Amino acid sequence: MTAPAALPAAAILRAPTPSAWVEAAADRWPELLLDHANCEKKAASTALALMFAYPEDQPLGLALSRVAREELRHFEQVQAAMRALGVPFTRQRPGRYAHALRGMLRTSDPGRKLDLLLSAALIEARSAERFVLLAPRLPERLARLYETLAVSEARHFELYVGLARSVAPNGWQQRLEALAAREAELATMPDRMLRFHSGPPQAGGGQLTILT
Ligand SMILES: [Fe+2]
Ligand SMILES: [Fe+2]
Repeated sequence: MTAPAALPAAAILRAPTPSAWVEAAADRWPELLLDHANCEKKAASTALALMFAYPEDQPLGLALSRVAREELRHFEQVQAAMRALGVPFTRQRPGRYAHALRGMLRTSDPGRKLDLLLSAALIEARSAERFVLLAPRLPERLARLYETLAVSEARHFELYVGLARSVAPNGWQQRLEALAAREAELATMPDRMLRFHSGPPQAGGGQLTILT
């Protein structure tokens, strides 16, 4: 199966990340790094969940097995950066993005597989876009890491788009439009919590909430 070549993340995102998010994230990068570590674990978990849900789809299983390993490797890299930069490992409440996006997805097939693949593609594309935006604003160690992660996540987004196309060659674009519109709202509307995939923090929005 072939993914479209060199598709930029912006090709499927319906709105760019607001500069207010970039400013806040560059300012509060230690909080973001903690959320980012969790995102990498979740990305591995998403790939594994798809493998379990569709065991008969061997091309998908093989491709996503590699993605899951790569995401766990990213988690280890983020964890190493956190240690090196003195960012503590704490519990953090998840933001609204993934939960709200998941609320859009169909829960049974036909439809569920396409929705899972397209939502994964959108999340990867948003990650790639934000790594590129953040890299020049971060301490050097993180900047280098984010530059390499941007390339990986862009490759993952292309892979998920390719899988979605193969599942629904005639319907994937229309469904992508609906999901991408919602994703764009979630990534741009003022948000109560600053997270890697959040909107910009709303006026008077709180700092990091630590659960103990
Ligand atoms: Fe990753
Ligand atoms: Fe990824």
